[in-house]
Amino acid sequence: MSDPSNFDLEAIISNPPKIHEARGELIADWKIDNRTCFELSARLKQSLRTLETGAGLSTIIFAAHRCHHTCITPDQGQVDRIKSYCASAHIDTSSTNFMVAKSSDVIHQLARSEFDLVLIDGCHGFPSIFVDFYYAAKLLKTGGTLIIDDMHIYTCQLVARFIQSDPGWKVTIKTRRMALGVKLSDTIDEEWSNQSFVVQRSSRQLFTKALRFCLNASRPLRSKLGLTGTQLFGKR
Ligand SMILES: C[S@@+](CC[C@H](N)C(=O)[O-])C[C@H]1O[C@@H](n2cnc3c(N)ncnc32)[C@H](O)[C@@H]1O
Repeated sequence: MSDPSNFDLEAIISNPPKIHEARGELIADWKIDNRTCFELSARLKQSLRTLETGAGLSTIIFAAHRCHHTCITPDQGQVDRIKSYCASAHIDTSSTNFMVAKSSDVIHQLARSEFDLVLIDGCHGFPSIFVDFYYAAKLLKTGGTLIIDDMHIYTCQLVARFIQSDPGWKVTIKTRRMALGVKLSDTIDEEWSNQSFVVQRSSRQLFTKALRFCLNASRPLRSKLGLTGTQLFGKR
């Protein structure tokens, strides 16, 4: 089987395999975009422990680098197409472990703090992606990399915004398509009151913001009427 250093990503990208099936047809369009392919590939090396939810071109990139890779997808057909493409391209899949299942059903079975890199690109629905994210955060080693694909989808964007705000992560790349962050520490089980992302969006905070906005907006009228801030609420 081929040496990872001979792997020609540009050649694969210019003629990507049709791994996914939509409306009875095999397509290549659901793959990670070219920038994500290169960012991913640049971070992979032989024997790294890696995990992805979903499967496709990304799985081929992990295999080509001979990572100890775990790929979770419910679609056996995809797994067969990936294996057959890799065989034809002399890419060794013997260190890729396919788990044919929905990620939310099995991801909790994996060993904690084991993985160097996790790509989340499986089910993007609510709340599946949050289940993936929760376990990915626990499965990653400190210093490990998390990639979330499909920033145009609200649920994916929400996870990316959360990690941007959280001290347990450092987001180093955020494009219109993907976010890439490094895990700095274990913060995933923090209570909401220690998460600025949640506090800022919670009702007490929103009420204060709304009140401040109304007071500011009505300031010209109140000053015309001779009402200062304290007069508005009545003298005590
Ligand atoms: C956008 S595609 C992934 C594209 C892939 N990363 C690539 O580069 O080609 C979404 C993938 O998620 C898989 N999927 C759908 N539901 C899933 C679930 N509940 N758990 C894990 N994977 C799921 C689909 O079978 C598909 O492989």
